[in-house]
Amino acid sequence: MTLSREDCHRELGLLPVWRLKGAAPASPARETDVAPAPSPASSRAHLSQGIHTRGYLPHTKAEGATYFVTFRLADSLPAAVLESWAEAPETERARNTERYLDQGAGECLLTRPEVAEIVQRALTNHADSRYTLHEYVVMPNHVHLLLTPLANHALSEILHSVKSWAAHKINDLLGRTGTLWQHESFDRVVRDDDEMQALAAYVRRNPVKAGLCAEETAFRWGSCWKDAGETPALQVPPHDADTVAPASRRPVADVSVMDWDTLRATIKSCTLCDLHKTRTQGVPGVGDIHADWLFIGEAPGADEDRQGEPFVGQAGKLLDAMLGALRLKRGENVYIANVLKSRPPGNRDPRPEEVAACLPYLERQIDLIQPKIIVAVGRIAAQNLLRTDTPIGKLRGRVHQYRGLPLVVTYHPAYLLRSPADKAKAWEDLVLAAGTMKNLRA
Ligand code: URA
Repeated sequence: MTLSREDCHRELGLLPVWRLKGAAPASPARETDVAPAPSPASSRAHLSQGIHTRGYLPHTKAEGATYFVTFRLADSLPAAVLESWAEAPETERARNTERYLDQGAGECLLTRPEVAEIVQRALTNHADSRYTLHEYVVMPNHVHLLLTPLANHALSEILHSVKSWAAHKINDLLGRTGTLWQHESFDRVVRDDDEMQALAAYVRRNPVKAGLCAEETAFRWGSCWKDAGETPALQVPPHDADTVAPASRRPVADVSVMDWDTLRATIKSCTLCDLHKTRTQGVPGVGDIHADWLFIGEAPGADEDRQGEPFVGQAGKLLDAMLGALRLKRGENVYIANVLKSRPPGNRDPRPEEVAACLPYLERQIDLIQPKIIVAVGRIAAQNLLRTDTPIGKLRGRVHQYRGLPLVVTYHPAYLLRSPADKAKAWEDLVLAAGTMKNLRA
């Protein structure tokens, strides 16, 4: 039996606040300090689903519809505040909510770059395969997006997967437990091009309105920052078509599905963090892309930045000797990469936000190479991969796991050049790595 949309709504107990009442003149595009509110029932055309909060109810799906969505941190809007607006009309509650959120209540965990980066990855991981992401912004305590689910992908599933993936990673990163997001998300269908323009402007402008930056393109955690220089022509795809936005309009490339060529090119010209302003080029890595051994260092130095290859300076020569001790050779069954692909000025330590921005590249390299073992070269690589502050002396000497692979920690060759007495310990590390590899093969 096929249920009509009306039947579905009734069945699910989901009551849209407005209903299609006939054709209406389009509202002018505008830039507002609160998200453009839905028009009253009498002014709506082509609309089958309205403002509602989902609560625990399952979602209905308006095929091909574009949605404006807001979800927020659990502590961003206290229940008592919400209750105080209980009697207000829906549009007023929506405006109050937007204003309240922009004031930055709660712990505002999303201001931490490494946390915002995770949310950004959650949003972009499946953009293009499950939905078209037109605009997004990660504010201190909430997230706005404009998206069109692709065929066979329900908005409810998309939001659930984005929120739960991000919550899991963020809780892991911060060593916290418990609810991260408010269970409910707010969403509504975008009814036409004008509303799309207004909502897109709202999303892009939100950080400026909230006083987080002077220019919308300066805000790092949104589609606007990525899109700087482009002027996409936003349109609402027709409700009944499986329309996918053209590539030029897609705000973010999905690193997790890139092939080698795309990945290398993306790394070389990456501008995700400020390091691109001072580096010569991004340095993807070097070696056998089917290698069993993956060596991961910290970041390119001056020589690597110039030549575009990791470990080519003095430290690189010693690394080659270490490979020789394992009867390995650069380029043969070995791949060498760094945690950071761009050189930090003056070879300073990588910053957390730089590592967070760069790590998806390394993760994709690992997925493509599928090595049998990883050797983390030096403190910075080891601590960032294992997400710990434990000193390198305590990390070496045992086999860790990274993304399901054995990982052995050893000293950085640059350190060994300064402290040759520790070369004996590095030798022990290599013996441990070789033994681990041998056991894998046995
Ligand atoms: N040190 C590193 O960690 N990586 C390089 O590529 C060069 C020096």
